[in-house]
Amino acid sequence: MTAPVPHIPVLLDEVIAGLAPVPGEVHVDATFGAGGYTSAIAATGAKVVAFDRDPDAVREGQGLVADLADRLTLIEAPFSSMAAELAARDAAPVDGVTMDIGVSSMQLDRADRGFSFQADGPLDMRMSQSGESAADFVNSADEGQIADVLYLYGEEPKSRRVARAIVAARPITRTAELAAVVRRALGYKPHDKKDPATRTFQAIRIHLNRELDELAEGLRAAEAVLRPGGRLAVVTFHSLEDRIVKRFLRERSGGTPAGSRHMPAVAAANDPTFETPSKAVKASEAEIARNPRARSATLRVARRTGAAAWGE
Ligand SMILES: C[S@@+](CC[C@H](N)C(=O)[O-])C[C@H]1O[C@@H](n2cnc3c(N)ncnc32)[C@H](O)[C@@H]1O
Repeated sequence: MTAPVPHIPVLLDEVIAGLAPVPGEVHVDATFGAGGYTSAIAATGAKVVAFDRDPDAVREGQGLVADLADRLTLIEAPFSSMAAELAARDAAPVDGVTMDIGVSSMQLDRADRGFSFQADGPLDMRMSQSGESAADFVNSADEGQIADVLYLYGEEPKSRRVARAIVAARPITRTAELAAVVRRALGYKPHDKKDPATRTFQAIRIHLNRELDELAEGLRAAEAVLRPGGRLAVVTFHSLEDRIVKRFLRERSGGTPAGSRHMPAVAAANDPTFETPSKAVKASEAEIARNPRARSATLRVARRTGAAAWGE
């Protein structure tokens, strides 16, 4: 087996420029991963409180915790619990919050985590390594539920057909088995440009890990913990996620309120909690050439005002 490729941080310079950390400040890295953002923030002299819900990421981060001594606190928890975790450590308010949404290269590359069908592995996909696995879901959910997940989170146009094929093929326990079922259902040919299993894997992963709800809750938590003048920098990797960030910032900066299932509309009676965000930032061609994963990344940065957090 080849060693996993280390995670290359995406839009790193742009994120650090947006956060603008200075010595003495405290910043939250909500998605520690391999610690790429954390290391860069700490290198400016600021302190970091980092979160990751994956026990492997936190275990592998212990070297950095030792190196940075009292400048890094690494917490194994979902970032939706950021406000409570910071309050418990008397660490709020903070000067910056950054979120780099999605899976890390380590999670994708390790076949035993079951996120990928490039190498066969157990059908798992749990970031926190606890709770319902992908195998539990595909083997127990009813056909309608599976179709809804594929349609909502994978934007799979033939979600009903794929769901029917999954139910007919149960039990499914391996990533390669699930990929084969999806390809058969959709008539995939090895030379087709995009493997249709990608949409199904993305959908199940987002559903199991509650990724869109976590993102919406994380944004509200960031609003609660940032001090006036504090900076928020969020990197997302597909339109479902970016839409949530864009709507949140538009609404919180006094733009048109726009509700969604994940971000219900609130009365426009509150004062803006963020200044008008700058334009979305995409990776340069040079970065994409170095790291193809950067192609789909979008960064949004905004500065906190002094207004009270809107909350739910
Ligand atoms: C794209 S990687 C972050 C990479 C990191 N910026 C770096 O430079 O190494 C995303 C990480 O966030 C974690 N993660 C995703 N959603 C999370 C959540 N809701 N709460 C805490 N950690 C989460 C994942 O486990 C993964 O390790």
